[in-house]
Amino acid sequence: MFDNFPLWPARASSTAGNVDALFIFLLIVSGMMTLLIFTAVVYFAARYRHRKGVLAEQIEGSTPLELTWSIIPFGVFLVIFAWGAIVYFNGRTPPRDATEVYVVAKQWMWKLEHAEGQREINELHVPVGRDVKLIMTSQDVIHSFFVPAFRVKQDVLPGRYTVLWFRATKPGTYHLFCAEYCGTQHSGMIGDIVVQEPAQYEAWMSGGSTGPLSASGEKIFAELGCATCHRSDSQGRGPNLLGVFGKPVQLEDGRIVTADENYVRESILDPGAKVVKGFKPVMPTFQGLVSEEQVNALVAYVKSLSQPGPGGVKTAALPASDSAPAKGNQVQ
Ligand code: CUA
Repeated sequence: MFDNFPLWPARASSTAGNVDALFIFLLIVSGMMTLLIFTAVVYFAARYRHRKGVLAEQIEGSTPLELTWSIIPFGVFLVIFAWGAIVYFNGRTPPRDATEVYVVAKQWMWKLEHAEGQREINELHVPVGRDVKLIMTSQDVIHSFFVPAFRVKQDVLPGRYTVLWFRATKPGTYHLFCAEYCGTQHSGMIGDIVVQEPAQYEAWMSGGSTGPLSASGEKIFAELGCATCHRSDSQGRGPNLLGVFGKPVQLEDGRIVTADENYVRESILDPGAKVVKGFKPVMPTFQGLVSEEQVNALVAYVKSLSQPGPGGVKTAALPASDSAPAKGNQVQ
């Protein structure tokens, strides 16, 4: 019925329904309040209007009435808070086994690279029904990754990673917008999210890869000589990177941080910021020596050193890697 009168963008992700439900609830609550207040204003204006010869009667307040109009809205706000928090945290927390895609934004295009190695520009192919995690950064200014049909939007910042995840539920092609003004061609910084059936997606994935991203990272790791210090027998001048990703790391200054994408990124570009306990700040910065894409590949590689099994890659680049987490390593 509303085919030619679309009030909503397509609903094509697992979170879209939840976001819409909350939005409709907010709309109904504010609509009802507006109606109530305007009705009361008009009614009271008429009922208590000035009349000749009638003296105004002073009303000094009513405890039950005041309690009612305090407690009911308080309850409604708590519902909005709890509901909003649930939707927010679901949207902010990527599932652990999500397929990973690295996104680099720049004036004025989206560069996307799948963990499996496929690269795309202004187009992202994803399978229907699978969780996809985007690890995003910008080469220049702030951009924002916005897919209305998925009801997801996340700013993309230079100098760090931000993360976005979704699970597409309907095959089709959906708009991707940049939703943060980023210069003259901002409005042209658009693209398509192509959601495919798994079989179609596998066929698409089987072409055009130059090898997994982590393998490119492994190559860069070797070329830059990282392995001379980051030795897997823990005898190097830098910490052993095997199994580090995703774990808490004790720092020299006493802090404990989690080795996530941003931690690895910062350790490459600003190694002095978080020095691991027991090590000296001797690592040079690689700022300016590696591109965003290369940093992504390095992050993917470090990550792969903690991931046995599918998606994870062997750990042979480092010497003495036999002690690597081995369970489930046959798959691949
Ligand atoms: Cu990129 Cu607006």
